[in-house]
Amino acid sequence: MSRLVVRSGGPLRGRVRVPGDKSIAQRAVLLGALAEGESRITGFPLSGDCLAMVACVRGLGVEVLTLTPAPLPGRERGEPTLTPGFSPWEGEGGGVMLVVGGRGLGGLRAPAGPLDCVRSGTTMRLLVGVLAGQPFESTLTGDPQLLRRPMGRVVVPLRRMGAEIETVDGHAPLVVCGRPLRGCDHVLPVASAQVKSALLLAGLWAAGPTTVRQPGPARDHTERMLAAMGAGVETAGLAVTLNPSRSLSPLSLCIPGDVSSAAFPLVTAVLVPGSEVTVEGVGINPTRTGLLEVLRAMGAGVAVDGEREEGHEPVADVTVRASHLQGVEVGGERVVRMIDELPVLAVAATQAHGTTVVRDAGELRVKESDRIATAVAELRALGARIEPLLDGFVVEGPTPLHGGVAESHGDHRLAMALAVAGLIAEGEVVIEDADCIADSFPGFVELMRSLGAEVATRNA
Ligand code: S3P
Repeated sequence: MSRLVVRSGGPLRGRVRVPGDKSIAQRAVLLGALAEGESRITGFPLSGDCLAMVACVRGLGVEVLTLTPAPLPGRERGEPTLTPGFSPWEGEGGGVMLVVGGRGLGGLRAPAGPLDCVRSGTTMRLLVGVLAGQPFESTLTGDPQLLRRPMGRVVVPLRRMGAEIETVDGHAPLVVCGRPLRGCDHVLPVASAQVKSALLLAGLWAAGPTTVRQPGPARDHTERMLAAMGAGVETAGLAVTLNPSRSLSPLSLCIPGDVSSAAFPLVTAVLVPGSEVTVEGVGINPTRTGLLEVLRAMGAGVAVDGEREEGHEPVADVTVRASHLQGVEVGGERVVRMIDELPVLAVAATQAHGTTVVRDAGELRVKESDRIATAVAELRALGARIEPLLDGFVVEGPTPLHGGVAESHGDHRLAMALAVAGLIAEGEVVIEDADCIADSFPGFVELMRSLGAEVATRNA
């Protein structure tokens, strides 16, 4: 287990690329597995959560290969070769190229044992939707952290479609006994892209259309990708309908940079005087850009340039400059569009003039940690004036942060938010149990160092 040691220093400057979007990458492998033929995915991030999805998809009999230029025994030159492992080689924009041997909608095989989703909620919730309609039994399991997270939100509506799924009191391990499914009209109580996606994916095998009505604009990567593969997807406001199709065409896409990972260097650059950082090739899907809007509303200089489309998603280069911030109120649909960025927003708010209030964010309580409780406890220990609400938090600023020892609670986004806090604190901040950062952002330390930040990894 390693810890991060972080110190404040000079300005952050430079242009970087962050790993590919975790949500899009996980969907690309899973949907690629269901396509009729070979999908090619470039810029696939080698993050823990994405590798968990790859391992599960392989467990269902799908071949997933990576293109590696490393010389193999018996070959003189390192010409690109498809191998089952992962090479450390990083292609253009980071990540590797994956080739997924799609087996079609009827081609998944019964797994030989439980499928291990490790710590990835997206892997488990998307897979349970796919497995519900298969003609075999399967079990989804994971690390204790994942076994604590609620699965009833996805299992209960799947049962309405005819699924037979056993839980342990609403939690994984999930035993899925594949059944013929029927289409349903679902009204979701929470805006969750994982739940929405699971139901739409189950709908691929259902008799009749499946409609999902969401209370807020949860990320729409599944709908975009399904539509690009030729599925019958219709969107009307916050309702999405999937009409079952006979087949999906393969994907050929480049995964955009993950705006949720870009958030950490970008917020650091806003906070450290004299900084200017550009993150190139970041996904700017409007269901994900709440943080950029809120930073602007707080007074930060945020420029979005070179807008283009990649992998059926809008992409741009995002530049921020160090800025004086004002407190802000965040709630409603904007919270849905920045749900993963709220821990790092809390750090930004400690340096803003006035009060920042985040509401309607009760979902934070069921993430990799209870992010309201953990962010409040850890930031307070570094000197922040932050109070929990049932569904959010209140921060008073500006408040100088001080050094100390902070705990990641095994939560990658909390760990990186605390690293940002360390980069503006007086005195050294040590973040314990920092390995979890690789669940979404392999290379975080190296990227921050390349911008001039004083971050180092130490073995605990
Ligand atoms: C994700 C959806 C969100 C998000 C998670 C990734 C996805 O979770 O917090 O990091 O890829 O669908 P919910 O669906 O629980 O809101």
